[in-house]
Amino acid sequence: MSYDLVIVANRLPVDRVELADGTKGWRTSPGGLVTAIEPVMRANHGVWIGWPGGTDPELEPFESDGMELAPMSMSAQDIEEFYEGFSNGTLWPLYHDLVAKPEFHREWWDSYVRVNERFAEKAASLAAEGATVWVHDYQLQLVPQMLRTLRPDLRIGFYLHIPFPPAELFQQLPWRRQILEGLLGADLVGFQLPGAAQNFVRLVRQRVGHKTHRDLVYLPDGRTVRAAPFPISIDAAGFEEMARSDAVRFRSAEIREALGRPRKVFLGVDRLDYTKGIYARLRAFAELMGEGHIDVEDAVFIQVAVPSREQVEQYRILRDEIERLIGRINGDHGRIGRPAVHYLHSSYPREEMAAMYRAADVMVVTPYRDGMNLVAKEYVACRYEDDGALVLSEFAGAADELRQAWLVNPYDINGMKSALLEAYQADDKEVTRRMKAMRKQVTQHDVKAWAASFMTELSDVGGGHAKDVRAPGGE
Ligand code: F6P
Repeated sequence: MSYDLVIVANRLPVDRVELADGTKGWRTSPGGLVTAIEPVMRANHGVWIGWPGGTDPELEPFESDGMELAPMSMSAQDIEEFYEGFSNGTLWPLYHDLVAKPEFHREWWDSYVRVNERFAEKAASLAAEGATVWVHDYQLQLVPQMLRTLRPDLRIGFYLHIPFPPAELFQQLPWRRQILEGLLGADLVGFQLPGAAQNFVRLVRQRVGHKTHRDLVYLPDGRTVRAAPFPISIDAAGFEEMARSDAVRFRSAEIREALGRPRKVFLGVDRLDYTKGIYARLRAFAELMGEGHIDVEDAVFIQVAVPSREQVEQYRILRDEIERLIGRINGDHGRIGRPAVHYLHSSYPREEMAAMYRAADVMVVTPYRDGMNLVAKEYVACRYEDDGALVLSEFAGAADELRQAWLVNPYDINGMKSALLEAYQADDKEVTRRMKAMRKQVTQHDVKAWAASFMTELSDVGGGHAKDVRAPGGE
């Protein structure tokens, strides 16, 4: 079987899990990638290559919810060295401004090369003549070049979902040249923001020595590679529709009731990750309570922390720190039946998230660095009555588009306290003015538009003889 469109991502849209009765089944995996790619997959005869979690053996491609999926296997060693090691112990902190210290281990790199090779071979075996292959994210940066060597007939796109760091940080990486050359195997390299694309082009010029002009890289073999920003988004209409549904409205009222009908609800929703700034935001909130600006009878903070990368040591340390802090805050400021912080260490279906977004008056998104942050956009999409305040880090990609949020520097605790308090005390008119403008941005630039602009651009730049694929919603 071969396909005109091949999506290659570290994760499949579904995880292989053990069900209650002991048999194996599939469950939607968390993350924005699924909703982002789905429209392109449905518009084409595509296949999605990825890892379903765990160490199950490789399976033949199969159909799930109208999409063809091709699961990749990983050994326990691959998980330790490629996934937890090089992807999340080296690249993740390096690409997020060194929020944590990246580790450089040669065995991790060797494993990264081996696993990238297997993904490239799988893509080469499933792609039809002249097909389009779209490779995703930092775990698979070598795949474009490996794939081009195996299959020069293909049109190859790459999209990085996380930030791409400035040269001063990137050049710490002992394998910096290999990564740059890996990415240059693509015809189009997409980033969240213009600054990331510029970082990449500058590094290619300095470190690989290719000629560049604006967003173009000229390779000695005559190929041209384009590096450009494509800020990712969400299914805004889908979220709004869900938020308007009776079930979600009922559930959101139920949540406020269960909280004891506070006047204001603050909400944080993050993967439990050290880039997200969860600790600092809770400290800021606690100080406002300690100083008497916010009373526990008036306001509560719900913090949803989705379990993530739990085998990586820094994630375990972070969890302990956050849980200790929340214990202290509730001990200091809570009353009987009235904790200051409601902490939920779990992931939830989208409907439950929509109900929480509806129930929250102040949404707090304060990462130290974030590629985009779709939670901020989801909150905006769900506030169809033009109410709700968003406190947003300047260092989230979303801050480029959501200019009317209360923007904060998450390293500045006093600044964050002022913004939280302003958002808490803002009058309805001010909140509505800001939310209206943000809603316009999010509804007009949804994920369909994102996928369509990447695919259109890729067919414009990509290999002369490759076949065109359809952008979602296209003819
Ligand atoms: O957006 C970054 C990202 O690493 C995605 O590639 C991934 O699907 C998501 O975050 C969740 O991370 P993980 O796959 O490590 O659970």
